[in-house]
Amino acid sequence: MNRLKLAFFDARPYDIEAFSEINKKYDFEIKYFKFHLTADNVILAKGYDAIVIFVNDTIDAGMILKLNEFGVRLIALRSSGFNNVDLKAALNHIRVVRVPAYSPNAVAEHTVALMLTLNRKIHRAYYRTRDSNFSLHGLLGFDMQGKTAGVIGTGRIGKSLVGILLGFRMEVLLNDKFPDRKFESEMRCKYVTLREVYEKSDIISLNCPLTGETEYMIDADAISAMKRGVMLINTGRGKLIKTSDLVEGLKSGQIGSAGLDVYEEESQFFFEDLSDRVLPDDVLARLLTFNNVIITSHQGYFTREALHNIAETTLSNIDGFFSGREPVNEVCFNCPD
Ligand code: NAI
Repeated sequence: MNRLKLAFFDARPYDIEAFSEINKKYDFEIKYFKFHLTADNVILAKGYDAIVIFVNDTIDAGMILKLNEFGVRLIALRSSGFNNVDLKAALNHIRVVRVPAYSPNAVAEHTVALMLTLNRKIHRAYYRTRDSNFSLHGLLGFDMQGKTAGVIGTGRIGKSLVGILLGFRMEVLLNDKFPDRKFESEMRCKYVTLREVYEKSDIISLNCPLTGETEYMIDADAISAMKRGVMLINTGRGKLIKTSDLVEGLKSGQIGSAGLDVYEEESQFFFEDLSDRVLPDDVLARLLTFNNVIITSHQGYFTREALHNIAETTLSNIDGFFSGREPVNEVCFNCPD
C-alpha cells in the first residue's frame, strides 16, 4: 500500500518534533508547511490524502470545494475547537476530525495562572524588582478564598478549572447550555443563569466554544450587568468577547482586569514574532497598554503532555479513517456533540 500523504500547515518546530516522534509508528509521508493554509495557497494541498491544520487555519466553503476537487479526503484538526472550518460546506464532501481532549488540565491551569498573575500583579512585580524598585504601591490583591468565580462552559476544561478553584475554597457558579447535574451535585456547585454569573462573580472565566450563539456574548450589555471591577478571563475563543466593548469596560473601571489567551483577530498575529514591526491593529495595541490586562498568544494548551497527546490522537484519527474504521473524533454539521 502507498504511504498516506499528509500536508501539515502552520507547522512550528515543536509540532514537527512531537509529530515526527509519534509518526515513527505510522510512517505517513508528512510535508510540513510553516505557514497557514489560505484560499491563496490551497493548491498546495493537491495530491495529499489529508490536511492537518490548527486553530488559525481558516477553511471556508470555497476552500472545501477546492480540497474536494484535489482529492483531499480528510481534514484533521490538531485542536479541540473547530469553529475555523465551515462544517456545513464540508458535509458530504470531506470529513473532519479533531482532538477533543489533549489536556484540559493544561488550559485550566493556564486560566488559573492568568487569574493569579492579574490578582497579585506578578507581571508588574517582576519588572519592578528587576529595576530595584521594591515598593508595593499598586500591587494590592485579594484573597481568592471566599470570592465567587463564574465558569461559563463546564466541559472538559471548565470542569478541570472548577476543581482547581474549589481548591482555593472559592464559591463557584456554573453555567452551561447543557448542565451536567451529576457534576453539579458531586462538586456541590450550582448551575445558574448567565445573568446570575454576571451579577455575582468576582472572576468570570469563558470556557465554552465559539458558536453562532456565543459569538460576542460578552458585549457592552453583558459587561454592564457584571460586578464593578470584575476579572474577566478568556481562554476559549477571541470572538466570545466584543473587544471594543471590553476596552470601554476597562477604561471605565467596570472591568477590573482581563486575562486573554485568545483574541478575535488573533490569526494575523498569534504564534508569530512581530517584534521588529509596528502593530497595525489598534484594538490589540490599546489592550496592550493596560497594566491590568495580560495577553498570552493562545498558549493555554502549550504543555509537553498536550503536544504529545495532540500528535498521538491526530495521527490515530488519520490512521483510523484511512483504515476504514468509523472516526471516533469526527465533527460534522448537525452531528450530536
Ligand atoms: P468541551 O466541548 O468539553 O466543553 C464545552 C462546554 O461548553 C460544553 O459543556 C458545552 O455544553 C458548553 N457550551 C456550549 N454552548 C454553550 C453556551 N451557549 N453557553 C454555555 N456553555 C455552552 O470543550 P473543552 O475541551 O472544555 O474546550 C472549551 C473551549 O476551549 C473550546 O471550544 C476551545 O474554543 C477552547 N480551547 C482553548 C484552548 C487554548 O489553548 N486556549 C485549547 C483548547 C480549547
